[in-house]
Amino acid sequence: MKGWFVLALFLNLWTGLSAEESFITNDEYAKMLYKNPRGIGCGNCHGQKGEGKVLSEFIKNGKRYAVTAPAIYNLPMKRFKRALKQPSKLMPEYFLTEKEMAYLYFYLLKQNPKKGKK
Ligand code: HEC
Repeated sequence: MKGWFVLALFLNLWTGLSAEESFITNDEYAKMLYKNPRGIGCGNCHGQKGEGKVLSEFIKNGKRYAVTAPAIYNLPMKRFKRALKQPSKLMPEYFLTEKEMAYLYFYLLKQNPKKGKK
């Protein structure tokens, strides 16, 4: 039963997309991008709303260290884009367009309406 629903939804999306280019809104597109940006989803590391997350912890010489992905919903746009364009040791490279980066940026702002910019 559930399978049929998913199939119907998929077909609906499929035909919808070919019939009309702007079938999904910018918000929906941004949400999809955030979850599946042609690679591992941002939320896996940065949290569902970009609030930041501890990825791993380890102990070295008796001291505790944490590997974290920082909060990314409250950065200046320039810094947000720069981070996505420059290679990093921990974060994958995504090759997003300027528009896609902007969509992601505003998507995260909207996910955190009360917190605002830093
Ligand atoms: C594998 C984990 C991982 C994934 C997936 C990931 N990031 Fe990151 N990101 C990091 C880490 C760790 C940092 C900390 C800086 C560094 O080491 O690059 C970071 C840094 C950033 C920064 C800079 C933050 C600052 O304070 O300047 C931005 C912006 C960012 N990520 C956005 C994204 C977006 C958008 C996506 C999805 C398209 C994404 N990241 C996917 C791990 C990840």
